[in-house]
Amino acid sequence: MSDASEQHGTDSGADLVLRQPDDWHVHLRDDAMLAFAARYTARQFARAIIMPNLVPPVTTVAAGAAYRERIMAVLPEDSGFTPLMTAYLTDEIDPGEIETGFKSGVFTACKLYPAGATTNSASGVTDVRKIWPVLERMETIGMPLLVHGEVVSPDIDIFDREAVFLEQVLSLVLRDFPALKVVLEHITTEDSVQFVEAAGPTLGATITAHHLRIDRNAMFQGGLRPHAYCLPVAKRRRHREALRKIATSGHPRFFLGTDSAPHPKHEKESACGCAGIFSAPAALESYAQTFEEEGALDRLEGFASEFGPRFYGLPLNEGTVTLNRQPHAIPELMGTDAIHVVPFHAGETLAWRLAG
Ligand code: NCD
Ligand code: ZN
Repeated sequence: MSDASEQHGTDSGADLVLRQPDDWHVHLRDDAMLAFAARYTARQFARAIIMPNLVPPVTTVAAGAAYRERIMAVLPEDSGFTPLMTAYLTDEIDPGEIETGFKSGVFTACKLYPAGATTNSASGVTDVRKIWPVLERMETIGMPLLVHGEVVSPDIDIFDREAVFLEQVLSLVLRDFPALKVVLEHITTEDSVQFVEAAGPTLGATITAHHLRIDRNAMFQGGLRPHAYCLPVAKRRRHREALRKIATSGHPRFFLGTDSAPHPKHEKESACGCAGIFSAPAALESYAQTFEEEGALDRLEGFASEFGPRFYGLPLNEGTVTLNRQPHAIPELMGTDAIHVVPFHAGETLAWRLAG
């Protein structure tokens, strides 16, 4: 290891130097939003797991490869960024297509959206048993399954959907596919923390920057706050505390996934506002703030830069990023002439700023 690595994760007074992190769950979108949003992820993270919930979703190798090209086309040639593409599972998805995509290096993982669970999930899986043949194939070839862990039944209260999913769906998947690598994405509950902790080495979880900071009150603070609305929805404070505790504990199966999910301002500030929080512009700074508040800055590097690649079986990044301790005002509004997006932390000042 180089000299620089010796100060990784340590606070040398003014700066925090970290092995370059990866984002294990992000929505980059397409077209004008992609052209606007991708740079924020690429400037912090070496790699990112790219969500496939476009319209139409990414369900074929050709669509995955074409989307990867569109992402690279909006970034500078020397960005050094690697998008890790995912396939969107549907009831009809062909195991052969998934295997071809994985073996050819187009797809890193598959994403399970229960149909109707979240933004652009209408073509998702209606009954998880329908994809048993695909899961069997994925287990055989060593391809990870990424899960949006919420049941969709209208009979289940929205605040309980994640906990019920663990019992009704995830337990079955783990039971029938004991060697399948599974990532429970963007966990929001103490139930999920405990479930993942109790599971074996094949189950990991990502935690967003925003679920470490907001609880469900944020959506109702002095009025209806659409920019604090995302799925899975933020829960009670005790759940947030459980997430903060595990994220900063150094547990190697909990790692960084922003779930940054930009939507145009007018589509959030609407009678039926979209779910999604755009955290990419200051994601690492937001995580750093949380870790510092928890007295765990020395554990940020594991969470952000080491546990994810180890779980996926990918090499750690060689480069570093530097966070300067410097007041960092987050704008109220970002975008272009054509697109307006309200970022996470809008109007707040964070304690850290990514250098460069
Ligand atoms: C995501 C989106 O907008 O695509 N929204 C969200 O609230 N996180 C979808 C998702 O990951 O659930
Ligand atoms: Zn997401």
